[in-house]
Amino acid sequence: MALILTLDRPERMNALSRELIERLGAAAREAATDPAVRAIVITGAGDKAFCAGADLKERQGLTRDQVREVVRLYRTEFGAIDHCPKPVVAAINGVALGGGLELALMADLRVASPRAMLGLPETSLGIIPGAGGTQKLPRVVGEAHAKEMILLGRRLTAMQALDWGLVNRVAAEGDSVVDEALSFIEPILKGAPIAQAAALEAIDAGLDADLATGMQLEVLAYERTLISDDRDEALRAFAEKREPKYTGK
Ligand code: COA
Repeated sequence: MALILTLDRPERMNALSRELIERLGAAAREAATDPAVRAIVITGAGDKAFCAGADLKERQGLTRDQVREVVRLYRTEFGAIDHCPKPVVAAINGVALGGGLELALMADLRVASPRAMLGLPETSLGIIPGAGGTQKLPRVVGEAHAKEMILLGRRLTAMQALDWGLVNRVAAEGDSVVDEALSFIEPILKGAPIAQAAALEAIDAGLDADLATGMQLEVLAYERTLISDDRDEALRAFAEKREPKYTGK
């Protein structure tokens, strides 16, 4: 099954309070070790916002030291999503700004509502993205597009984000973005969990390494799939002309 995590603070555009960030990280850690969870979908409550980023009202009352601590919390808790061995998809149901887009960048896949708006406006607020945005965005959309978004505070529509590769898919007008995300990841839900986790690990670790190291990481990840029961089941199912039944072993 896919675990659906909903950011539920619609009165503040699902902005990230300290409590919300902690709950998100805890849910991702729990899902990582729950064999029943095959994938995670993160979305926002309501139809306006996926997440408007940092809670700017909460932030106003914080000292600089307290802000440092909150930003550290973003990094550790978003890290739990980033490093989750289960595929994570962000179902971006509305605006995804600042920390909201950084959260979506921790996901492996992104599906957007046609009314979504995506941006990193931090430099216009006198700061920079502090939860991975300066590192993740260029890896997804390339240096020039990332600098355009971050330096100009440029907000993209869903279709522009699709064009730039920032989202994988845009739902049709009137369709639920969560339903769209679930139908998009159906092959994952039916697929082989060990292979999916190994693929994610090889891709993600390889992106942080030089090519030769990445090739070695691939060898190690491949080995984990080679010794799995699911790999044998795939070959049996092919020979017997039937759908494979994967068990995650
Ligand atoms: N933190 C706390 N509250 C927020 C918020 C945030 N990041 N973003 C929106 N809200 C609150 C608003 O203050 C408002 O509450 P209020 O009615 O009590 O004043 C409510 O959510 C609705 O927002 P509003 O601005 O009236 O809605 P809108 O549809 O006109 O605009 C946004 C929505 C998200 C485009 C706009 O609120 C915005 O630009 N927010 C700031 C986003 C941002 O810069 N995030 C990056 C932080 S680094």
